[in-house]
Amino acid sequence: MSAAQQAKQQIDALTAELKQHTYNYYVLAQPTISDYDFDKKLEQLAGLEKQFPEFAEPDSPTQLVGGEITKEFKTVRHRWPMLSLGNTYNEQELLDFDQRIKKAIGDNFQYVCELKFDGLSMSITYEHGKLVRAVTRGNGVEGDEVTTNVKTIHSVPKKLDHGDYPDMFEIRGEVFMHRKAFERLNDERIEAGEVPYANPRNFASGTMKLQDSGEVAKRPLDCFLYFLYTEKQLFKTHWESLQAAKSWGFHVSEHSKLCGSITEVLDFINYWEEKRFDLSFDIDGIVIKVNNYNQQEELGFTAKVPRWAIAYKYKAEQVETVLESVVYNVGRTGAVTPVANLKPVQLAGTTVKRATLHNANQILLLDLHEGDSVYVEKGGEIIPKIISVNPAKRKPDAPAIEYVTHCPACGTLLERKEGEAAFYCPNDEGCPPQIVSKMQHFVGRRAMNIDGLGDETIETMYQRGFLKHISDIYDLHLHYNDLKTMDRFGEKSIRNMLDGIEKSKHMPFEKVLFGLGIRYIGETVAKKLVAYFKTIDRLMAASLEELVAVDEIGERIAQSLVEYFEDEKHREEIAKLQSQGLQFISEEKEVVLASESLSGKSFIISGVFEKYSRDDLKDIIEQNGGKILSSISAKLNYLVAGDNMGPAKLEKANKLNIPIISDEELLGMI
Ligand code: IVH
Repeated sequence: MSAAQQAKQQIDALTAELKQHTYNYYVLAQPTISDYDFDKKLEQLAGLEKQFPEFAEPDSPTQLVGGEITKEFKTVRHRWPMLSLGNTYNEQELLDFDQRIKKAIGDNFQYVCELKFDGLSMSITYEHGKLVRAVTRGNGVEGDEVTTNVKTIHSVPKKLDHGDYPDMFEIRGEVFMHRKAFERLNDERIEAGEVPYANPRNFASGTMKLQDSGEVAKRPLDCFLYFLYTEKQLFKTHWESLQAAKSWGFHVSEHSKLCGSITEVLDFINYWEEKRFDLSFDIDGIVIKVNNYNQQEELGFTAKVPRWAIAYKYKAEQVETVLESVVYNVGRTGAVTPVANLKPVQLAGTTVKRATLHNANQILLLDLHEGDSVYVEKGGEIIPKIISVNPAKRKPDAPAIEYVTHCPACGTLLERKEGEAAFYCPNDEGCPPQIVSKMQHFVGRRAMNIDGLGDETIETMYQRGFLKHISDIYDLHLHYNDLKTMDRFGEKSIRNMLDGIEKSKHMPFEKVLFGLGIRYIGETVAKKLVAYFKTIDRLMAASLEELVAVDEIGERIAQSLVEYFEDEKHREEIAKLQSQGLQFISEEKEVVLASESLSGKSFIISGVFEKYSRDDLKDIIEQNGGKILSSISAKLNYLVAGDNMGPAKLEKANKLNIPIISDEELLGMI
């Protein structure tokens, strides 16, 4: 084979591999390769393409700066392209960077060292002190306009109160989620039977892609700003611009440092390599920028990255160990999660014995075989994950890991819903771990909060045959003497438990509904449903269309509810719980109408308003007899529009000739 033929083969193979990794990363949010290995392969491909440009594919991964553009948002061209940064992974590469700079501009310069926040970059434009536009990086040239979503971030000022800011400027930063918030919200997702996010970055970027900014507002995001673009040069240095941005009210990290030499830069890097775990958010490296703007200009850019800045990326700690087995956990909603049991190994200060495998796709992507030697990484995730397999150590006859076809707990054939990655055991009435965890969920702190009935007690009571359904909890007092025969369960504990059970009968309907553990019905959704339908009878009688008409209830949730209530066994269980005295009617008092002035009229509220939240306006409409609809149709009377309303809504309303009014006009009607 000639050198050219060999190069072509290599280019083709690397291109295909990197495209697959890009897809795994951006679309599936399940990378199977470390950032480091990805960059190395990308570098190798770039080198080959430089030598043999005739073989480079036009859409080669080396041409892409970043992710795809989501179709639903308006695409906006960046006034200043959003470039990426060159990456370095070791001291030598950093010293080379320093040498290149010295060669170009001499010795007289300073660096600014900053944390490299692990989120998604955002470009925010201000005009006359008002936030007018926020755009994601997209492909670096064009991004998605997500202004309404960004306006929900508390630390991003919507209006600047003070300071000598220019009439127009763009400020760039990183939107991210604090680890604690991530853990809490991910727990809620798991509770609601949804697939959890792998790390805070994916959660933050998943959130920014939501169409409903109301939902975005519920997920606490934060944003650090780290770069300013102005028409005219206002400052001499990057450092000054950061101080100014801080004084105008922007969230600028306090952990930046002005460094006079590359040695100081290395000290900063080493310091944060250890201390990064004490931060409340994830960082994946350090960004090093030449401070002086004239010097930045002198250094200029390569095709894709500035020559005056670089990122030093921390390597996620990785170790090699042996895959001992794959086990399958069955959750409350029947979702089956594969977990890898590993030969115990030390990683980032802890002994790792298990790694998450997410789902069946992940096993396929990794091409896992029995007894494989695997690389395990602990990045931002709490549970370590398998990054790749070492094929050189695979025994020739090692069979591939095949995902289970039947439930490991009850033997029922597993099912997979279209478009979902997880497999489910449909035997919700007879599968022991599902039954037990359903009851554990019901008594849990966020649902019925029953004192004296812990997870282990429930498990034992299930094994002893006292508990099989949630309603059996309310019959436990009938087994008083049997309960006394249970180990470590004295009279006092039984009393305490029975008191807790009795008290729980006063828990409000929304807690009961959440406690039932219907798939996709988390706490917030339960609250929404109760506020809308008020009684279980109305909720059970609601059709799919009626459910979807409720604000924030989508097709998936509606379908899940309909299926749940269609099941006779569920209806019987609810009837029993009702007869046992649980709350199935909202305690909320009937709303007293402030006026009837909007009666018979229907409204949709869209966009962001200066004086009112959308919920405020909804309350005002309902208190004056009006109705809120969920989608634009010929039945709609008015569309109340604020700033940054989605273009699709506007188009539809115009097509149907629906009057578009402001919040002021709405108030004028009352
Ligand atoms: S400056 C032209 N500073 O890292 C310079 N970027 O790998 C533009 N990032 O796209 C970027 N922390 O999303 C800069 N302190 C920081 C950063 C930072 C995180 C992200 C940003 C950028 C990516 C490049």
